[in-house]
Amino acid sequence: MLDLDAEVTAGHLAELTDRIAELAGDRPVRDVVDIGAGTGTGTFALLRRFPEATVTAIDTSADMLTHLGESARRHGFDGRIRTRQADLDAGWPEIGAADLVWAASSMHHMGDPERVLAGIRGVLRPGGLLAMIEMESVPRFLPADIGLGRPGLEDRCHAIADQARAEHLPHQGSDWAARLSAAGFKIRDSRELVVDLSAPLSAQAVRYAVATLRRFRTGVAEGLSADDRATFDTLLADDARVLRALPGLTVRSTRSVWLSTPA
Ligand SMILES: C[S@@+](CC[C@H](N)C(=O)[O-])C[C@H]1O[C@@H](n2cnc3c(N)ncnc32)[C@H](O)[C@@H]1O
Repeated sequence: MLDLDAEVTAGHLAELTDRIAELAGDRPVRDVVDIGAGTGTGTFALLRRFPEATVTAIDTSADMLTHLGESARRHGFDGRIRTRQADLDAGWPEIGAADLVWAASSMHHMGDPERVLAGIRGVLRPGGLLAMIEMESVPRFLPADIGLGRPGLEDRCHAIADQARAEHLPHQGSDWAARLSAAGFKIRDSRELVVDLSAPLSAQAVRYAVATLRRFRTGVAEGLSADDRATFDTLLADDARVLRALPGLTVRSTRSVWLSTPA
């Protein structure tokens, strides 16, 4: 799913890495750290944009890092990537200084983001950049009325997911600009990265919608009414035949981006 997300957002990431290059100016971008790297969306976008860079990809998940390492070999990047399995809540690993730290959809997973931000400040060279991206919630795909029962299925699913997130991921959706400033960062640029793909979707965007909604269905199942569960199952049955054919299937998501330097 993360890899499909990377495909859908590739153009936006290219624009963002161009902006990072602009802010870096004459300062070389050689040592890059990707925190909560997942399957490497950020890692690969940065390796493409900064040909002199080596990326240290940090994640708690060995599976994610294995996947990332395999993709790196396939794309010929393996000599430019170090993977490091580490839980950033347990302390900052010994990885050396960095010109750029990238944290995409990962900071809200941390138990103590302030501690991680202090770790980032500690490794950034003077003038080095922190690029932080946070998605407000999982993307949206369905029209309000999908013609299979009570309208508003996706809204009801989001209400359940928001409640679960408030319990398990309390930092999601927090005021990151204020937290960055309080942690001693000066925000040099902030922007919204808006994905808004309308019907008819490309095959790749449809795969992304199907994969995300399948995962979402599992996450919200317990909170849904029996009717909504049945509607969701109808959408996803037979390899999501009904969902794939749904008129008005879209991909909509907004991520916030902050580019900052230690103040
Ligand atoms: C939503 S994924 C984002 C992955 C990637 N940055 C992207 O944009 O596709 C969040 C990642 O953060 C990792 N993560 C969560 N908590 C972490 C921690 N305490 N230390 C290091 N990585 C963590 C997860 O394993 C997961 O791969």
